[in-house]
Amino acid sequence: MVKKIRKAVFPVAGMGTRFLPATKANPKEMLPVVDKPLIQYAAEEAEEAGVSSLVFVTGRNKRSIPDHFDKAYELESELKEAGKTALLEKVQNVLPEDVSCIYLRQSEALGLGHAVLCAEPVVADEPFAVILADDLIRGDGGVGALEQMAQIYERYQCSVILVEEVPQEETSKYGIVEVEDDDGETATITSIVEKPKPEDAPSNLGVVGRYILTPRIFSLIKETGRGAGGEIQLTDAIAELLKYEKVRAYRVKGKRYDCGSKLGYLEATVELGLAHEELGDSFKNYLKEMAEKL
Ligand code: UTP
Repeated sequence: MVKKIRKAVFPVAGMGTRFLPATKANPKEMLPVVDKPLIQYAAEEAEEAGVSSLVFVTGRNKRSIPDHFDKAYELESELKEAGKTALLEKVQNVLPEDVSCIYLRQSEALGLGHAVLCAEPVVADEPFAVILADDLIRGDGGVGALEQMAQIYERYQCSVILVEEVPQEETSKYGIVEVEDDDGETATITSIVEKPKPEDAPSNLGVVGRYILTPRIFSLIKETGRGAGGEIQLTDAIAELLKYEKVRAYRVKGKRYDCGSKLGYLEATVELGLAHEELGDSFKNYLKEMAEKL
């Protein structure tokens, strides 16, 4: 029987240079979209897909992430005393009771591949998910990206990588895959390359921040040298994995916001603001007023 995906790895040790100075003392994964930090959206997506262990690979300046998922005794007792029950629930429900958090440290930001390798002692011999929280994804019909991918994983019983068509001139920002056997939703990956120039890119199918990987990836990362940008790239290890196992690409049903970039972050803020229960209507009116002035 195919093993369930029980563990999700969240590499959160990057420098977040595109968001400086906001990320000088605070991780970009703690940037809020409306009223929740990016990392909480990502954790909720994993929980909805059945994940029960959240494995965070953290770096310097990341203490606010464990604090966010921890109990906040003082705050909770003050909210309780003030009778602010709805707020108290929001604070207490950040993490469901049956989900646990594990924190590992990547002492040097050597790249995404290296960050994933740091999780090996915890993940060991199981298939696992990798979620990059700065890609915020709203799945169609309320079905999260990871849950959609878990279904593909169960169907094909192999690693699954989330992809999206990206503008040809932007291929150098992404890992790019070449595929065959493409049914418009999922396809077999035949090659993968990190950040190719538009003229060298084998397609315009770019990898976005979700992976389901088999544990063989760890030994392959260990053999992976520094690649694009002088970093140990997960993409390069996946290119090796293709020599041993099938890997499927899956096109998400939903919308992705690149919250690692300022424009993508603003887009997410506007669209999630419009969809927000309390704020949606008044925010819409405000945007209409603004649009008239533009
Ligand atoms: P990015 O390429 O977005 O890099 O990393 P970054 O440092 O976070 O941001 P910029 O480009 O400088 O603005 C992709 C993901 O990999 C993680 C990051 O935290 C992010 O989730 N990462 C990257 C690590 O955990 N460790 C690394 O050494 C590099």
